[in-house]
Amino acid sequence: MSDKKWWKNAVIYQIYPRSFADSNKDGIGDLQGIISKLDYLEDLGIDAVWLSPVCKSPQDDNGYDISDYQDIDPMFGTLEDMDGLIREAGKRNIRIIMDLVLNHSSDEHDWFQEAKKSRQNPYHDYYVWRDGKEGNPPNDMRAAFGGSAWEWVPQIEQYYFHQFAVKQPDLNWENPRLRQEIYDMINWWTARGVGGFRLDVIDQIAKEPDRKITNNGPRLHEFLRELSRETFQKADLVTVGETWGATTELAKLYSNPDNSELSMVFQFEHICLDQMEGKEKWDLAPLPFLKLKEVFGRWQTELCGKGWNSLFWNNHDLPRIVSRWGNDGAYRVESAKMLAILLHGMQGTPYIYQGEELGMTNAAYKMEEYRDIETLNVYKERKEKGYEEEEILRSIHAKSRDNARTPMQWNDRENAGFTDGTPWIKVNPNYKEINAEKQVQDRDSVFWCYKELIRLRKQYPVLVDGDFRMLLEEDERIFAYIREDEKSALLVVCNFYDRKTDCPLKELDGDMRLLISNYKETEQKLVLRPYEARMYIKEK
Ligand code: GLC
Ligand code: CA
Repeated sequence: MSDKKWWKNAVIYQIYPRSFADSNKDGIGDLQGIISKLDYLEDLGIDAVWLSPVCKSPQDDNGYDISDYQDIDPMFGTLEDMDGLIREAGKRNIRIIMDLVLNHSSDEHDWFQEAKKSRQNPYHDYYVWRDGKEGNPPNDMRAAFGGSAWEWVPQIEQYYFHQFAVKQPDLNWENPRLRQEIYDMINWWTARGVGGFRLDVIDQIAKEPDRKITNNGPRLHEFLRELSRETFQKADLVTVGETWGATTELAKLYSNPDNSELSMVFQFEHICLDQMEGKEKWDLAPLPFLKLKEVFGRWQTELCGKGWNSLFWNNHDLPRIVSRWGNDGAYRVESAKMLAILLHGMQGTPYIYQGEELGMTNAAYKMEEYRDIETLNVYKERKEKGYEEEEILRSIHAKSRDNARTPMQWNDRENAGFTDGTPWIKVNPNYKEINAEKQVQDRDSVFWCYKELIRLRKQYPVLVDGDFRMLLEEDERIFAYIREDEKSALLVVCNFYDRKTDCPLKELDGDMRLLISNYKETEQKLVLRPYEARMYIKEK
């Protein structure tokens, strides 16, 4: 049963500010740019915007390296602009969700500047330091963006720990004073009117590097409960934890309906399937379709009534889904809609990443056109290891985070209407064909499909509360499931491939009424055309 949390039938739209809309011609998206597009978001029908970080930052990892948690980076605007965004969005019933990067700060944060002065400095213990062994790092742990996880600071003859880039030193959550500073900062943002928080790599805060533990450290849930008690529980906020390492069991802790930790998890089990097992994301493997169904089915059934999941295909770290598991050639529109219908019929809170609602695609750039620190590092690392140029580029074209970071395609004018200056990263050349202006005017567009799916979620409670049953589990082309509550049954049936296929579904009887599909007319009920997707309802 629904316990009437506002975020249970909400749809959240993620904005990557530097790539969304530029208001002052410097080629970088900003807060005023976002404000100028709020009418577009209201028209789409979303309830909240998750903003990737806009706090002060040297931008080594595009804002995920924060040097002042209580100020806005001048590149994006000012605190007044942020207040303005919260206010203007509020007028349209859109809440603003901020991105909290609490696992690490920038090395340019005052805390770190102090911490590295001496071992006695009061801020030293805000970070994770070790002495090292005979001139070597304490152990062989590696950072996510390449190289050792330990960096030597000669002044104090110690190494600091960083799970990401060298300029992203890990914060030491063992220190109660640090935790208190974090709570104060969060409460300060809440008082400014923020509607919720997304917690960056939150499952990594309770690290224990001496035991090589990064994810799911022993004190993780203790820290989260304290954090929640001291901050989120004091207001009607939505909170979502980025948890790469979550299992369904862990997810029930994070998103326990008793509200002791977070509202929901944002986990990646369905996303990581197209990489070679035990290898890096760059080691590509074909998508195991049956496994994809198994993963979705398991999360849907196990969390039902016991936790809450995010529903997403995309974010600022992932390639575009239509280029990944859809078809960005002949069936771009059909497959983008199919993936949307498939996802938005499930239980959880749907996330739409900017441009997904247009069916934006990956961009196959030349190496010098990439900007992302992770992409640049893997190129260098794999070159050094002797990989062929062509093979490295194939992986980068498929998986680079910059696929998601090309500028939002607003119209068919210069730079896709994103900026009147020079964009910080090249615009995907297909913007003349794929852009918001065109799609808003076209009822058959991907945009309208998303808009309709959002509307349906508000209209049919079964989308929020209904339980989940997978159908045709062993079928190698069709993804079909049914959601049921006391009043109705909702059926979703999708052809995941570019060939016609028979659909032997007995549930598809005469009482089922079509709610949405991606072809104009249903030709034959029991045959699915390439990427055909339909959602039906039956009132009991
Ligand atoms: C998260 C963010 C990613 C960032 C990393 C380090 O995974 O989504 O963009 O680089 O954390 O903060
Ligand atoms: Ca700008």
